[in-house]
Amino acid sequence: MDEPNHPAQRKYTKEQPRRWSARVDSADAFVFVMSEYDYGFSAPLKNAIDYLHHEWGYKPVGFVSYGGISGGTRAVQMIKQVVTTVRMMPLPEAYLFPLSASSWVRPVNFGPTRCWRRPPTPCSKSSGDGRRLCDRCEPSPPEPASAGRGQFR
Ligand SMILES: Cc1cc2nc3c(=O)[nH]c(=O)nc-3n(C[C@H](O)[C@H](O)[C@H](O)COP(=O)(O)O)c2cc1C
Repeated sequence: MDEPNHPAQRKYTKEQPRRWSARVDSADAFVFVMSEYDYGFSAPLKNAIDYLHHEWGYKPVGFVSYGGISGGTRAVQMIKQVVTTVRMMPLPEAYLFPLSASSWVRPVNFGPTRCWRRPPTPCSKSSGDGRRLCDRCEPSPPEPASAGRGQFR
């Protein structure tokens, strides 16, 4: 946050906050897709909220979180206190992805280092056991019973 005026004044001096303001202003509701670090939400998410004020007001916000065992639960609980300060209306339900980087969630381009794309996206290699690989891939993990489904809390 590097604007000289309080966001409640809506006197933005830079182009980026002006564009962020217009974008948030034009939305009716929000979904925050967020991770958790050391039991908390990330600094960039907090910064993105802090840049504005009235633009968030009285709009619903839902949460999709991911992370380790907790799946971002604590970060979601923390951010609720922040969003109500700018008068957003947080939904009690959240969609959680525990152990998102390593287990049963099968993301499509979810992370920068792994690719678990499956057909119809063409891959250039084959793992030899029927599963396919593309250039920066590892074999797709076996399909668990609950693949693709997170948890409602
Ligand atoms: C320093 C550090 C602390 C973390 N703390 C938590 C945590 O408290 N709870 C959790 O669920 N995951 C935790 N994680 C796991 C991250 O949430 C996970 O790696 C996530 O995929 C990061 O998402 P991002 O790369 O999109 O920011 C932590 C990871 C790191 C590197």
